[in-house]
Amino acid sequence: MLYVVVDGFFGDTGKGKVVSYLAAADRPALCVRTGAPNAGHTVMINGVAHVLRALPACFTHHEARLAVAPGALIRVDIFLDEVNKYGRGKSHVDYNTGVIEDRHVSAELEDEYLMRVIGSTGQGVGAAVVDRVLRRLRLARDFDVLKPYLADVPSLVHELKDRGVIIEGTQGTFLSLYHGTYPYVTSRDVTASGVLSEAGVGPKAADEIVLVFKAYVTRVGGGPLPGELPPEEVERRGWAERGAVTGRQRRAAPFNIDLAKRAVLLNTPTQIAITKVDAIFREAAGKARWGDLPPEARRWIDEIESQLGVPVTLIGTGPEPWHVIDLRREKGRL
Ligand code: IMP
Ligand code: MG
Repeated sequence: MLYVVVDGFFGDTGKGKVVSYLAAADRPALCVRTGAPNAGHTVMINGVAHVLRALPACFTHHEARLAVAPGALIRVDIFLDEVNKYGRGKSHVDYNTGVIEDRHVSAELEDEYLMRVIGSTGQGVGAAVVDRVLRRLRLARDFDVLKPYLADVPSLVHELKDRGVIIEGTQGTFLSLYHGTYPYVTSRDVTASGVLSEAGVGPKAADEIVLVFKAYVTRVGGGPLPGELPPEEVERRGWAERGAVTGRQRRAAPFNIDLAKRAVLLNTPTQIAITKVDAIFREAAGKARWGDLPPEARRWIDEIESQLGVPVTLIGTGPEPWHVIDLRREKGRL
């Protein structure tokens, strides 16, 4: 089985949580992270937040190998630190993975337009992508310190597909360079097709595309956010969040069905995950069975499913990986 997990809004919908749940539940042989260190994926275990910026959020299954995609970009220090913490003896980086160097970070931090107008995270990702396009970026294979980890990740995916592979997207559909709210976007295509391309996997190889929405919409940095609430109201609703990488306050708006429909059109998901349902239906907190959800939460989810025409299979009810209602079997996706 090959799963691809992507975000249907502006990032921060809880891909890390969904991927960590899927890893624990399905025990895949391999997980592949795409994207770059501007994206932090948080996995909360026993109240402790683990933020991953290079490796996939799959350490909840100890036997899963952890790999970085050829189309991804890493910072060598962040990669090695995460290998040390979460991936000793089981981590790989593709020969062709791009490497972000200090000069890329400085170039971005000094770029007024990127930092002030776009609200870039300033992690040097865009600057490194520019160098890659100009064919002067150094790749993982050019760094001696990465030699022990070098692998042909597309071949690994191919070899291990029957034993379970999860490919983890980053950011969110509307931050896509091509399909998002340009110019208020990131420097890559982050829809399902872009994520597959980064991993070196053709579209037909994906068995399941999981599109992740949060029960409300958040966005950091500049750009439009339909239905945006004033900060006091965001606070009052208990939706205040801070960025995992930058610590910036996230803007927030109620769930937006039109954005969700557009995200379905752009990603062709086979199933949908909705996280943080407990943030709008408090009595849903910590529930693990559909029947235990309050009736209004079930109605709300059923309505989204019927409007989107895609089964809602994973429902997040709390921060830890096991705070998930898994309806994949009932809905014929397992
Ligand atoms: P950059 O990709 O760091 O240059 O940032 C460009 C835009 O994407 C800014 O609005 C950032 O806030 C946003 N962005 C980048 N990475 C993430 C992420 O992981 N989560 C949410 N927003 C992000
Ligand atoms: Mg994040």
